[in-house]
Amino acid sequence: MKQAFKWSAVGLGSLIIIVGIAALVLYSFGRSRLNQVYDVAVAAIPIDSNAETLGRGEHLVEAVVACGECHGEGLRGRAFFNEPAIGTVVSANLTGGEGGVTGAYSDADWIRAIRHGVDPAGQPLLVMPVQHFKGYG
Ligand code: HEC
Repeated sequence: MKQAFKWSAVGLGSLIIIVGIAALVLYSFGRSRLNQVYDVAVAAIPIDSNAETLGRGEHLVEAVVACGECHGEGLRGRAFFNEPAIGTVVSANLTGGEGGVTGAYSDADWIRAIRHGVDPAGQPLLVMPVQHFKGYG
């Protein structure tokens, strides 16, 4: 009986150590992925600001891709996922005004974010579903 108890304790101890090591390995992989900087060179696309181009952009943003579903009213950002037990995901305020992150965005920064999922500093936008945006011209 004593022997069985001893081996159970050894087994449980080993399991805890293995789970601990696995958690540590996964954590460091996750951290290195989050901190990775991507140097994405984007092709310059001429972006007109004529009425037709602006109308097409508005249609894509409002009706097709629905950026506002996540970025909120007027694209001012919001907590679009908020589950106290799990966590909160806040989308960026895309305006150029107060609290907005795109005031200094160049055309290349927009392309990098929307087509490649990378912010101007080269950090990955992990939550943005960029794979769904690539097909729209
Ligand atoms: C499913 C939700 C979701 C949708 C839809 C979405 N976004 Fe995002 N977006 C996010 C989140 C969350 C972030 C914050 C970074 C991250 O974690 O991905 C973000 C970040 C960004 C950024 C980077 C801001 C910065 O920090 O520099 C830009 C630009 C952007 N989104 C533009 C858009 C545009 C334009 C659309 C529509 C074509 C769009 N997003 C649709 C969730 C979304």
